Amino acid sequence: MKVLAIETTCDETAAAVVESFGDGVKVVTNVVASSALVHQKYGGIVPEVAAREQIKSIIPVINEAIENISIDSIEAVAVSYGPGLMGSLLVGVETAKVLAKTWNKPLIKVNHMEAHIAANWIVDNNTEKVIPQLPAIGLVVSGGHTDLLLMKNSKEKIWIGGTRDDAAGEAFDKAARILGLSYPGGPSIQKAIEVVQSDTINPFVLPRPMIFEKNLEMSFSGLKAALSKLAEKTDLTSENVSLLAKEFNSAVADVLIRKSLMAMEQYGVENILLAGGVAANKILRERLLSSFDSSHLFIPELKYCGDNAAMVGAAAILNNDFVSNLTLIPNPSLMTV
Ligand code: KG4
Ligand code: ZN
Repeated sequence: MKVLAIETTCDETAAAVVESFGDGVKVVTNVVASSALVHQKYGGIVPEVAAREQIKSIIPVINEAIENISIDSIEAVAVSYGPGLMGSLLVGVETAKVLAKTWNKPLIKVNHMEAHIAANWIVDNNTEKVIPQLPAIGLVVSGGHTDLLLMKNSKEKIWIGGTRDDAAGEAFDKAARILGLSYPGGPSIQKAIEVVQSDTINPFVLPRPMIFEKNLEMSFSGLKAALSKLAEKTDLTSENVSLLAKEFNSAVADVLIRKSLMAMEQYGVENILLAGGVAANKILRERLLSSFDSSHLFIPELKYCGDNAAMVGAAAILNNDFVSNLTLIPNPSLMTV
């Protein structure tokens, strides 16, 4: 099956054409335009601005994605319908509905968080890439979500834990602001850390909230407050900013990995699957790779971690959630499961 997929939940406008490839999904085209730079001067996303940028980008992005594709070969149009920002979502959903109607193709609705998870099924032409083995513990970490899921099989997913307050990505964004680094916080924190030598002793210490509590709950807002206090009494030279960034990133990674391990133990599951924008994080990826056997660890390729439409197409192919009429309404607060 070949699908045109559209993604506009937040500040990325994306379109992709993907097709089934064995048990996985192959990407034919993948176009992403981001308005992150426009938001940088505000230190975070301004929803109204994001929606306006979506309107500007949606048609050029789709045109580029289907440039060399025959419309006849496309069997369905898929779109993320939530969670996300209402204005941004409306642009993608309404565009998808119009295309499905005029091309006379079925419409497939996709939960954006399911799409992040489905990024693990993208194999491209890499015949070495192993499709995730289920059951697995899903660690879904994005700007709005930090969820631990028990993924029993492709249909059955149960929420078993997650953050009480800030999502991991949101914590990165807030930490970056505290340290005077730009939005989005994850990539700029990662960049600040690059200059720190691996053998440098870090004088800064931050807490690992809830790490020893025997439950699958997490909390990142206290960590942000602790960073803020430490930053207030520190001379924020670029060296200190890098060291504080590293300590913050390490604290988040430690909590995420510890709670994932607890979930695996509690549910007797050997496999772990990572998803969401924070899945791009270098320290998190390295520590996961050194904590788990690679045959049990599934991590999307870097280019499919942040918001993109290839993952939406992958979820559409895996879940086939057809909408029989064109009444699809965006749902900004849709849950992961
Ligand atoms: O999944 P995503 O692209 O959008 C949402 O669905 O929210 O996630 C965006 C979040 C942002 O908070 C961003 O700071 C974070 O992912 N992020 C990262 C990295 N790249 C993006 N966090 C840590 N390290 C990164 N390399
Ligand atoms: Zn996302």
